[in-house]
Amino acid sequence: MNASLATVSYIGSTILFILSLGGLSNPETARRGNAFGMIGMAVAVLATVFGPRITPSGYPWIVGALVVGGSVGLIAAKKVQMTQMPELVALMHSLVGLAACLVGYASYVDTSISFEGAEKAIHEVEIYVGILIGAITFAGSIVAFGKLSGKIGGKPLLLPGRHWMNLAGLLIVLWFGRVFLHAETVPAGMTALVVMTVIALAFGVHMVMAIGGADMPVVVSMLNSYSGWAAAATGFMLSNDLLIVVGALVGSSGAILSYIMCRAMNRNFISVIAGGFGGGAPVKGGGDAAQPAGEVSPISAVDTAELLRDAKSVIIVPGYGMAVAQAQHTVYEITKFLREKGVNVRFGIHPVAGRMPGHMNVLLAEAKVPYDIVLEMDEINADFPATDVAMVIGANDIVNPAAQDDPTSPIAGMPVLEVWKAKTSIVMKRSMASGYAGVDNPLFYKDNNRMLFGDARKMLEEVLTALKT
Ligand code: TAP
Repeated sequence: MNASLATVSYIGSTILFILSLGGLSNPETARRGNAFGMIGMAVAVLATVFGPRITPSGYPWIVGALVVGGSVGLIAAKKVQMTQMPELVALMHSLVGLAACLVGYASYVDTSISFEGAEKAIHEVEIYVGILIGAITFAGSIVAFGKLSGKIGGKPLLLPGRHWMNLAGLLIVLWFGRVFLHAETVPAGMTALVVMTVIALAFGVHMVMAIGGADMPVVVSMLNSYSGWAAAATGFMLSNDLLIVVGALVGSSGAILSYIMCRAMNRNFISVIAGGFGGGAPVKGGGDAAQPAGEVSPISAVDTAELLRDAKSVIIVPGYGMAVAQAQHTVYEITKFLREKGVNVRFGIHPVAGRMPGHMNVLLAEAKVPYDIVLEMDEINADFPATDVAMVIGANDIVNPAAQDDPTSPIAGMPVLEVWKAKTSIVMKRSMASGYAGVDNPLFYKDNNRMLFGDARKMLEEVLTALKT
């Protein structure tokens, strides 16, 4: 393939990637968006492999890498549960970071292309920045994987003087950047690179360790953005235009998503990155008014069915537990049954419900719930006072009134679905255990709240049976 054909193919795949992002912005067009992305990636890989920069001697390596990488991807995609998806995504981000580091080192020691003057300086800046972003992404994503999979605790690690440590790290990185650019020999430059890499790795670990459970959504989307910038940096090092464009697309869309997440959580982006929010135990002092008190009122599946049958309007709030129990199909069976009986049933979706952006939307779409009854938090929150039954299925943090009532709560200020304003709220979960953020939930103790204890799918099946009899 000659250079112009490769360039045309690259432009074609860039357009396909943009169409893919456009498609993914709406559940109705998401399938098409995925298809565009897959075709774009296939074109990009073919144009690169058969492009002018790869000689046939490289083919065995490429085929080997494709077979190994493709098999790992295929096995992971088949084996990984929907609830483990965020961990998998974090792990994938770490690979992008690792690739940027390896390409950076390889470009530095590669003597086949020599640069002079300004070009040399630019090339070395690309290498230094590329490895820096790559190492932060790699280490941060590994810790995020640990936190999301529960292998590392969700509590933020708040070292004394952590901001000073970060600042000192930044200054050392800048200093060694100067040393690197002025290095006369490769070994001298290599020492600076290695020191910077170690600091960047430590910074990546420290940054994500300092972030509390409730702020993990922002971190995941932020690492997504970093992985895009790491890919763009790799593109600069390899002089590959497509990688630069695609990296920038991922980097900027991840940054926009992080911003949207911050807004949804009512968090300031800088304070999330600085860490310490959304930790385990509430801050000492105050907050008594919102402390959970009293006893919970359990309800049976039969009585739940009774309440639903008598209701005129019902709002269902799904959360992580619905994903764990794979209860979405039964939820839809109940929804269909009630709608046929004239009950107005709608779904209220919190922006960080579950463990990844759009988690609930994906599950409900899989169960074929019509999109027009699935509403965002902002669209439905005002309707709870006029609702007879709010049914919370395996959700906890996203319906926690402490976020509004208790300024000392780790999730204070996070917007929540106001289910307690409905005539009756029913919370379906297995125990009194807390949710991802590790905070108690005063909703459970409210007079108009009932607890339906048990696995969400099993309980919903019992409710459906009771409804039908
Ligand atoms: P959570 O607050 O984590 O609550 C989920 C609840 O589901 C748990 O309290 C659990 O209680 C229950 N549950 C688990 N398995 C169940 C089953 N089989 N049947 C019934 N219930 C079950 O979830 P949420 O309300 O969706 O809130 C999301 C949380 O995750 C937020 O804190 C958010 O910040 C965080 N987070 C979100 C994301 C994104 S992007 N969405 C990413 C990372 C973290 P039991 O154990 O008692 O059953």
